[in-house]
Amino acid sequence: MADHEGGPEAAAGGGPEPDRRTFLGAAAGLTMAGGLAAGYGAFAAAAGRYLYPARRQRKEWLFVADLGSLPVGGSMTWTAPDGARIVIARRAEAAEPASFSALSSTCPHLGCQVHWESVKGRFFCPCHNGVFDPEGRGTEGPPKGMALARYPLRVERRLLFIEVPVQRLSADAGAGRDGCLRDRGGRA
Ligand code: FES
Repeated sequence: MADHEGGPEAAAGGGPEPDRRTFLGAAAGLTMAGGLAAGYGAFAAAAGRYLYPARRQRKEWLFVADLGSLPVGGSMTWTAPDGARIVIARRAEAAEPASFSALSSTCPHLGCQVHWESVKGRFFCPCHNGVFDPEGRGTEGPPKGMALARYPLRVERRLLFIEVPVQRLSADAGAGRDGCLRDRGGRA
């Protein structure tokens, strides 16, 4: 009989209720699936990093200067292909790497530029009077206990070479910004 069709829920406007439950169920399912996917994704990313660690930054030996152009007590600021500014100082006459130092000119405190003071035999950061010894170790001021980044050097046929990252070396960069030439010779 027509009076009984649909029952009390239909009569009270409850017809859509099953659809709403279906919708809520589907939404909960999707949310759970998304959460699981995100969780597994994070796990997969962590596992990937463990199994395939990031490749080390590629480095190359680049020409810096003829030893004759850098007298004892002198220094020069050299810019690496990745933009890092490096202070190269000569402390002794001998034509060997130990006579030189190559340290980042970026202060580890807040990033100001340090410079070599040959008379005082130290690197100085004018921003907050930071002082570093010739080995780049912070001895006074805020950077005390910190250190300037150090770069390896080698001498070959009275030419000075430095090993630096070349990650951002562009195709046209056979030379760095300061005119350094790529070292195409053998390595030490
Ligand atoms: S930035 Fe060099 S001492 Fe502060």
